[in-house]
Amino acid sequence: MKRRDLLSLAALATLGACSSGTGKPTFSHRLRIPDQAPATTGPDGARQFALTLQTGRSEILPGRSTATWGINGLHLGPVVRVRRGDRVRIAVTNRLPEASTLHWHGLYLPARMDGGPHQMIEPGATWTPEWTVDQPATTSWFHPHPHGRTAMHVYRGVAGLFLVDDPAGPPLPSRYGVDDIPLIVQDKAFDGDGEFTTGGFGGTFGMLGDTVLVNGTAGARFEATTSLVRFRLLNASNARVYRAGFADGRSFRVVATDSGPLARPVTTDRVKISPGERAEIVVAFVPGETVVMDSRGEPARQANDIEEEDFDLLTVVAAGRLAPSPAIPAALGGGPPPVVPPGARVRRFSLSGSEINGRDMDLARIDEVVPAGAHEIWEIDNTTYAHNFHVHDVTFRILDINGAPPPEYQAGPKDTVFIPKKARVRLSISFGKYTDATMPYMYHCHILRHEDRGMMGQFVVVAPGTESQVSRTLATGH
Ligand code: C2O
Ligand code: CU
Ligand code: CU
Repeated sequence: MKRRDLLSLAALATLGACSSGTGKPTFSHRLRIPDQAPATTGPDGARQFALTLQTGRSEILPGRSTATWGINGLHLGPVVRVRRGDRVRIAVTNRLPEASTLHWHGLYLPARMDGGPHQMIEPGATWTPEWTVDQPATTSWFHPHPHGRTAMHVYRGVAGLFLVDDPAGPPLPSRYGVDDIPLIVQDKAFDGDGEFTTGGFGGTFGMLGDTVLVNGTAGARFEATTSLVRFRLLNASNARVYRAGFADGRSFRVVATDSGPLARPVTTDRVKISPGERAEIVVAFVPGETVVMDSRGEPARQANDIEEEDFDLLTVVAAGRLAPSPAIPAALGGGPPPVVPPGARVRRFSLSGSEINGRDMDLARIDEVVPAGAHEIWEIDNTTYAHNFHVHDVTFRILDINGAPPPEYQAGPKDTVFIPKKARVRLSISFGKYTDATMPYMYHCHILRHEDRGMMGQFVVVAPGTESQVSRTLATGH
């Protein structure tokens, strides 16, 4: 398998001062920890946040300045952290040079608050969604969703984490920045001037960079000060798939999938995450050690033709003395394996090059009408190369992949799933209570090139019994 060093040649040339004698970059840059967005309390008790999408320039490679986009900052966004039950109100102001949106990926809320392609925010404008947080603890995130432009907006750096804490959830390490560490993983390509390459949006998969940033940091180093550290991994890349683990092969425990805790911790030594997916892992360290978190391609590369190259992600240096961490509970509160409800409706989706069921995305077309509260089976048939599949509004469980149950660490609640080439994946989906016959949610491939090219569809959730009255055509201003 091809071994790819972390940094491109252009990047390496500027990293001379940080390179060891072997010519490999050393991981000497302190891992950036995104700020937590401050909240105010509204007159109705809501927790209010203000997020501003903006442009900037950042020093990512030493001595180089890169044009970046961010939220409340020059590159990437702050962490929005709320508790289950909170009323949340977020003023999103667009100071980018073009219209965008901010979508709450993984959050359960009414379609008009979702931040999809129908909630465009013009430059200079502010959009203020609000909703009551009613879902288990999750590591979710937010990113733009303007139809046809999502890849570029996310690639430039508009993305941030949205964490929901559940007071009734399992006690896990939760001291932010100490033993509760977000890891936003994104690949980039730099040109000779140190700018993000923007020529890479074409081809089958679109942008595949050769430099991996974690929280916007290239060559990141994190100092562990506790014996257990919880890492919240988010694949916020345009197309790359990672198999994250450690260079020394150590095992760790997976405690949560995209949208909530697993039933119990699952011990493994690699977690595979495709764009949009999250995994929370708890890793044990011994005092004084240094270990590299890396991504290593599937040994047989089976089922994935998004070339899985090898990358180092992060160096963890454990302090000489580590504060003891409380034990991880044996039961985490996630539900048992899903059962297929008898008589559940089955919807079939066939994925081809950039179409779903033979059609490109049309903002004026409603593809599916779902009754509120329904429990359905969605069967995704991939006829071509690798894709993935993300559904707004819901949490699902993977029933099977080519007839076999998913790896145990993917058995928890999810909203995004990798679909290997030529594979069939069945999902067990529970739909929620929010209805709106004239505002759809999206389902799509989260490989952003594919999404932008139209590998996306729209569904509305309506009051049960009203499905046949729903208009399949939307008036749309976009
Ligand atoms: Cu993360 Cu429809 O997106
Ligand atoms: Cu989403
Ligand atoms: Cu795809």
